[in-house]
Amino acid sequence: MKTLIRNGRVVTASDDYHADILIEDEVVTVIGAKLELEVDHVIEAANRLVIPGGIDPHTHMELPFGGTQASDDFRTGTIAAAYGGTTSIIDFAVQYQGQSLLEGLDNWHAKAEGKAAIDYGFHLITTELVDRQIEEMYTVMDEGVTSFKLFMAYPGVFLVDDATIFRAMSAAGKRGGLICMHAENGVVINEIIKRALQEGRTAPKYHALTRPTIAEAEGVHRAIAISEMAEAPVYIVHLSSTDALNQVRQARDRGLPAFAETCPQYLFLSVENYNEPGFEGAKYVMTPPLRERSNQDELWKGLKMDDLQVISTDHCPFCFKEQKELGLTDFTKIPNGAPGVENRIPLIFNGGVIENRISLNRFVELTSTAAAKIFGMFPKKGTIAVGSDADIVIFDPEAEQTISVRTSHMNVDYNPYEGKKIRGAVVTVLSRGRVIIEDGRYKGRPGDGQFLKRGACAADF
Ligand code: URP
Ligand code: ZN
Ligand code: ZN
Repeated sequence: MKTLIRNGRVVTASDDYHADILIEDEVVTVIGAKLELEVDHVIEAANRLVIPGGIDPHTHMELPFGGTQASDDFRTGTIAAAYGGTTSIIDFAVQYQGQSLLEGLDNWHAKAEGKAAIDYGFHLITTELVDRQIEEMYTVMDEGVTSFKLFMAYPGVFLVDDATIFRAMSAAGKRGGLICMHAENGVVINEIIKRALQEGRTAPKYHALTRPTIAEAEGVHRAIAISEMAEAPVYIVHLSSTDALNQVRQARDRGLPAFAETCPQYLFLSVENYNEPGFEGAKYVMTPPLRERSNQDELWKGLKMDDLQVISTDHCPFCFKEQKELGLTDFTKIPNGAPGVENRIPLIFNGGVIENRISLNRFVELTSTAAAKIFGMFPKKGTIAVGSDADIVIFDPEAEQTISVRTSHMNVDYNPYEGKKIRGAVVTVLSRGRVIIEDGRYKGRPGDGQFLKRGACAADF
């Protein structure tokens, strides 16, 4: 099967030029000017951007959490991702206490098997790691799961102590693995929450008011300090505030291999959303919470200056009806998380490129290339180059759209960006050479997505 993408403006993290792209079966085989070739299928891309498929390294499909389960499974969530120009996700498998690491991983393979519309990898949330489990950690890495998420938050659920963090970082670091850190001081936060509940503060906004930015900054500081002692890199997930960013900045200025991602919700939404009428603030209950608007400019600056390397979504949707409503009388019972996998690329194109905060190349780097490098998938993923997988998005930079739950494909009954008008839209999406989104329709088959066996962390450090 030969496909030719003609007359497009090819943009990668480093290049920007007009060219034709020949795809043979699953990979890019020729890039050149005005290719005259016999092919099976031609895609006209004049006046369009041709960019690498997005990589979202932070999703939670079907995650059991907060007394319920994330409402997207690997079928609905990856189809929605494809509509939004994302062609690879890295989802978080979970090893629960008392389980082996491999059991946790097997459970996630079973969830995803035969369902995914795009390629998918896993990180492994690790809730227990004693010395005798280190060999198993290496087995997990040999199976292509080279990153692990540890939590400083959610005592009694996911939280691990500093000894476990040090042990995990030391062990993973020795073999090119990476620890992703949910950095918030959950122990202190729980005390603040107890006090709030005793005082009768139960509305959704108290989720934010009980999780101060200093709790995040302390977590980031501690995570980086432990990684320095372990002589290993660290990747801070869903960084939300200036206070936390300053900790990453200082570490990077000292030359430490500290990486961090932020998410669209921290760039476009704010603590003001918790004041929406009635119980609507529950739609934005996620962890870390939305912050004061003043944090946003600093996060954009961090993205521009490479103190933040990646924009992921932390896609963890729960329906407003019946799921978010579990916390009607107590904000601690609202399942934490929000949808976003479908909206990330158009939102960042509009807020970043159209609104002149980042360059087009940086947009590609933040939404695709950097994650491919950090998480051991480059150059198979994250770029358009001869030999790379033909995960390609044809993007119309002039199209206008209004984000709405009515036109979204995520399996959830609201959209946090409802009514937001943006410029730029995904037109066509190819996953390993197959057209999966065209004319506003999904044309693939669930199960086409393959498990991504990832290599060592390959970021520059
Ligand atoms: O609220 C969030 N972020 N839910 C998903 C779990 C996590 O901490 O990433
Ligand atoms: Zn987290
Ligand atoms: Zn998450």
